[in-house]
Amino acid sequence: MKRIPEPELMDEADQARAYAEADFSEANTLFLDCFRNLHPSPLNEARILDLGCGPADITLRLARSYPRCQVDGLDGADAMLEHGRSALIDNPDLAGRVRLIHDRLPSDRLAGRDYDVVVSNSLLHHLAEPGVLWGTIKQCAKPNALVLVMDLLRPVTDTAVDALVETYAMDAPDVLRRDFRNSLYAALSVEEVEIQLLEAGLEKLEVEIVSDRHLTVAGYL
Ligand SMILES: C[S@@+](CC[C@H](N)C(=O)[O-])C[C@H]1O[C@@H](n2cnc3c(N)ncnc32)[C@H](O)[C@@H]1O
Repeated sequence: MKRIPEPELMDEADQARAYAEADFSEANTLFLDCFRNLHPSPLNEARILDLGCGPADITLRLARSYPRCQVDGLDGADAMLEHGRSALIDNPDLAGRVRLIHDRLPSDRLAGRDYDVVVSNSLLHHLAEPGVLWGTIKQCAKPNALVLVMDLLRPVTDTAVDALVETYAMDAPDVLRRDFRNSLYAALSVEEVEIQLLEAGLEKLEVEIVSDRHLTVAGYL
């Protein structure tokens, strides 16, 4: 099936609210599990960047799991970040170590190769030009940085899209069902991601299918 890109930013208020209120604990736990498999030992005073952090659930989970680390989350949609700011108010113990940055990629504010760890969940499929994510990682990650990108995998048929929407969004609000369907069509295949990594000079990163709808791109630069 051909890729059908969707709008990049999730900046409609009702869309951001529905997303922030939805239960993504299964996918977000899978993300954290993949992170721990990649790096089983503690992280000491590392700087972590979460690209396309949305309402910052994974950003905050990382800050809680790695209490010696500074975690920055970046998103282009202020409507999404507003939910992240609220979550941070509810978790004041994390406030000194978490920074939420409002900016759209590609971003000049990330130049400097400062980050020890760069992560991203469900951003890649939003990008009209996915190379923007790989370019950003090269721009802001230190040599030998740890990278974990997780995203949806594009199904092979319309029937498979319908089945995933039924399985995972049957009772979800209309706006979430719409977004999930659009996201599945906008997602990439393993082969497309591998070509992008080759073109970006990031072929050390490995692509792996980790669930019936997710792939990861992971490794050390
Ligand atoms: C599906 S959400 C994922 C949010 C979060 N990472 C999570 O796992 O719940 C994708 C996010 O990427 C953001 N985004 C899309 N394109 C972007 C860009 N070019 N620059 C910055 N953020 C972007 C959207 O605004 C949205 O908040």
